[in-house]
This record gives sequence, C-alpha cells and structure tokens, in this order.
Amino acid sequence: QAKTGLKDFLHISDFDKPTIMGILGRALEVKALLKSGNRDFQPFKGKSMAMIFAKPSMRTRVSFETGFFLLGGHAIYLGPDDIQMGKREETRDVARVLSGYNDIIMARVFAHQDILDLARHASVPVVNGLTDYNHPCQIMADALTIIEHIGQLEGAKVVYVGDGNNIVHSWLLLAAVVPLHFVCACPKGFEPDKKTVEQARRAGISKIEITNDPREAVRGANVVYSDVWASMGQKEEAAYRKQKFQGFQIDEALMELAGPKSYFMHCLPAERGIEVTDGVIEAPNSIVFPQAENRMHAQNAIMLHLFGL
Ligand code: CP
Ligand code: NVA
Repeated sequence: QAKTGLKDFLHISDFDKPTIMGILGRALEVKALLKSGNRDFQPFKGKSMAMIFAKPSMRTRVSFETGFFLLGGHAIYLGPDDIQMGKREETRDVARVLSGYNDIIMARVFAHQDILDLARHASVPVVNGLTDYNHPCQIMADALTIIEHIGQLEGAKVVYVGDGNNIVHSWLLLAAVVPLHFVCACPKGFEPDKKTVEQARRAGISKIEITNDPREAVRGANVVYSDVWASMGQKEEAAYRKQKFQGFQIDEALMELAGPKSYFMHCLPAERGIEVTDGVIEAPNSIVFPQAENRMHAQNAIMLHLFGL
C-alpha cells in the first residue's frame, strides 16, 4: 500500500517507491540550485529545527545544520550532555517540549525505540539521524550518489562488506522499495537482523544475498561499500571485532576482483588500515566525498517532503 503522507522519516521502507524516487529527484534539483550559487530559495524561512545527538557526529550535524540554514531556517544543536533524553528527562516529555518551539526534530540516538517514542509523542516531524538499528538519511544520500555516478539506482549491484549493522539495515529497507541487487558479506555471527532481511526479501523486488565470502560477493559490483567494524556504542569491542573481521578488509585486491566498473563507497568516518586500505579510499573510483556531500542534499529534500513544500 502507498505509505505517503507520513509525519516522520524513520525508515526508508515507510515510503513507497514514487515517494522515495521523488525525494531523490528533488534532491538533485535543489542541489543544482544551491551549486549554482542561488540563495533565493528559502522554503525553511521562519522555521526552526531541534537536533538531538546522543552520539558524536560530523556529517549528520553539519549537513543538517548547514542545509537547513541554506534554505532559510535555523537549527539548534543539542549534544549528548544537553538533553540526556531518557535520563535527565523522559523521551515523551522531550518530544512535546521541543514540538512547542520547533517545526521539525532530527535525532541521533542509541536504542531504536527512542526514535519511535520521540516520533510518537512529537507533534512535528521527526527525522532519524541514525540509531543502533538504521541510518536512513545516509542511504538516501548513497542512493543519490549512485544515481549521479552510475546513471540509475534501479538494478544496481551494491556489495557491502563488513558488519551487518545499521547501514546494512537501511540498505535492506531501501531494497524493499526500489529493485536492487544487494549483497552483505559479513563474518559468521555478524549478519544483519533476520527480520529485516525477511522484510526485504518479502517485498519481492530485489535480489538479496547474505554471505560470508567477500571475494565471491564483490564480482561485478557497481558499488563496494564499507563501514566501521565497531559502531558507536561498540567501541570497547573494537579489538575483538578486528580479530573476527580478518579477511573482510576492502583492499586493492578485493577491488580488483570487483572489476573496473566498481565504485568504492563508505558512509564515513573510516578507519583506514582496518576496514579499508588507504589506497582504496584514495583511489580515483572512490566516491566517499561526493557521497558525504550528498547527505545535505538528500536531507534537504527529505525535509521539503515532510513539510509538503
Ligand atoms: N556518516 C555519518 O553519519 O557521519 P557522522 O557520524 O559524522 O554524522
Ligand atoms: N555503523 C556506524 C555508522 C556511522 C555513520 C555507527 O553506527 O557508528
């Protein structure tokens, strides 16, 4: 069923394909406008956004804040020590108080339930800026980057190598909406959430593979994708994970297997020499910086959609 007209942006799969493709198309338009130097488009004029961060961030913070400002609005950064949502104050109270001052709330949290609770109790739109479960704004920016570099998103073969984490869940949820060939190559025991894999498979439009063999997985990939092996909140497991993930580093040899038409992507921050070599991230087919830049354009379009602008 069409799932348009939702108040919040929490999971890509909450929306139908025309809506997602429409947001990506709008992102390209507004990006071109901003790139041309035009600053007359001010749809967020008089609007205010609260940004809650329970975890660190560079891209999410700066791309939301700058994007909202460039389109005429004002954004407020609330760091881990400011609100302490769920500790200093209950999430449902935070939701209602911030809704009284702001037109939209963006939040980066640990437990996925926190963003669900926030959205449920807020009267304004809530945008998911990463949870332990997913990272939809990142994968919208990635989709935009793929459209720009490959020409189309539909049918792209995206091979993710590493931990079956929040990034993978958002790829799977995109694959439930847009036809893709998505492969996750991860060590045994680090597979993505089974229910989410099922959800992507049940949608019946994408080819979804979960494998423990990165070398076989990458063949013919349009994109080879990497993320850190220890996500925020797991940093004390870093040494243990580094051991478990031996053989899953994206290096020049693996990119060679992928073939000459493959791009390298990474949501960043990257740990060079751990999940990816310096050579791969600096190679001409690495598009990690255009990918990072597209966070802003994807998010601007997401917010325009939520405001009905
Ligand atoms: N990719 C991403 O979300 O980066 P930050 O953690 O710096 O926001
Ligand atoms: N999986 C990473 C993504 C960072 C953007 C994390 O959650 O830390």
